[in-house]
Amino acid sequence: MTGDALRDRSVVVTGGGTGIGRATALAFADEGARVLVVGRSADRLAGTAGLHPAIRACPADISAAGAEDLIVDAAVRELGGIDVLVNNAVTMNSAPLGRIGRDITRAQVETNLLAPLFLTQRALPLLEAAKGLVINVTTAGNQRGWPGHSVYGATKAGLDFFTRTWALELAPRGIRVAGVSPGPVETPIGEHSGLDAAAVAVMRDRQRARVPLGRVGQPEEVAWWLVNLARPEASFATGLIVAVDGGAGIVF
Ligand SMILES: NC(=O)c1ccc[n+]([C@@H]2O[C@H](COP(=O)([O-])OP(=O)(O)OC[C@H]3O[C@@H](n4cnc5c(N)ncnc54)[C@H](OP(=O)(O)O)[C@@H]3O)[C@@H](O)[C@H]2O)c1
Repeated sequence: MTGDALRDRSVVVTGGGTGIGRATALAFADEGARVLVVGRSADRLAGTAGLHPAIRACPADISAAGAEDLIVDAAVRELGGIDVLVNNAVTMNSAPLGRIGRDITRAQVETNLLAPLFLTQRALPLLEAAKGLVINVTTAGNQRGWPGHSVYGATKAGLDFFTRTWALELAPRGIRVAGVSPGPVETPIGEHSGLDAAAVAVMRDRQRARVPLGRVGQPEEVAWWLVNLARPEASFATGLIVAVDGGAGIVF
């Protein structure tokens, strides 16, 4: 089913050093695409780049001022443009109302919401030239409540609004915009959020119990959807948000 449609396409994946971003970078590279992975840790990026010769690393903190210039310049230099931009990097912190700190709130808003906005905006000329695609990685359940995660969920709900609005704004320019909304997926997101191994195990058990399919997903099961949204066969789809969550998002 694969064919050559994604061969030599230029793909930028933020948060490509681990988890879903790493699996997505590898899945695109396996299709013949050239991929630039972005993240703060050069070691993590090197781990992804080491999986495939078509993957290049771009160390950058996407929440820093001017990061969008650095990333787009690197994409031009390393890939020659951008056909697909995957806004995937995330900062997640758990705290209930009453214990929410301003700095960690700012970090979540800047990484999860403002960075995708300004990176996508900066990449628009390249995306327009390519008749490209933006994919925002969001989360299942952000339309419901999630105790302890009001800020994270709000950033993702905001990202969904970006997805739908940008799809309308960019359709006349030939750019498609989509979201992918994972449920619980086995990645280091818990550890990256400051949880210890025991807390991660508790979190995964709780998640498993809430997923109708009775398990957490694998990063590759999410990456498949990202790659397939970029195929020509998906070219009539824009503004959609694909739930890849084992049914978690439809539980009452
Ligand atoms: N795993 C799940 O259960 C799950 C569920 C729902 C939604 N999602 C979504 O899936 C996406 C990927 O998450 P994941 O599970 O794969 O988590 P992850 O493994 O923690 O990946 C997040 C990546 O973002 C990068 N990152 C964080 N802050 C950054 C910054 N300021 N600048 C650049 N890169 C930054 C991290 O690398 P550095 O630390 O090296 O920068 C890391 O590689 C996220 O959007 C998340 O919200 C995941």
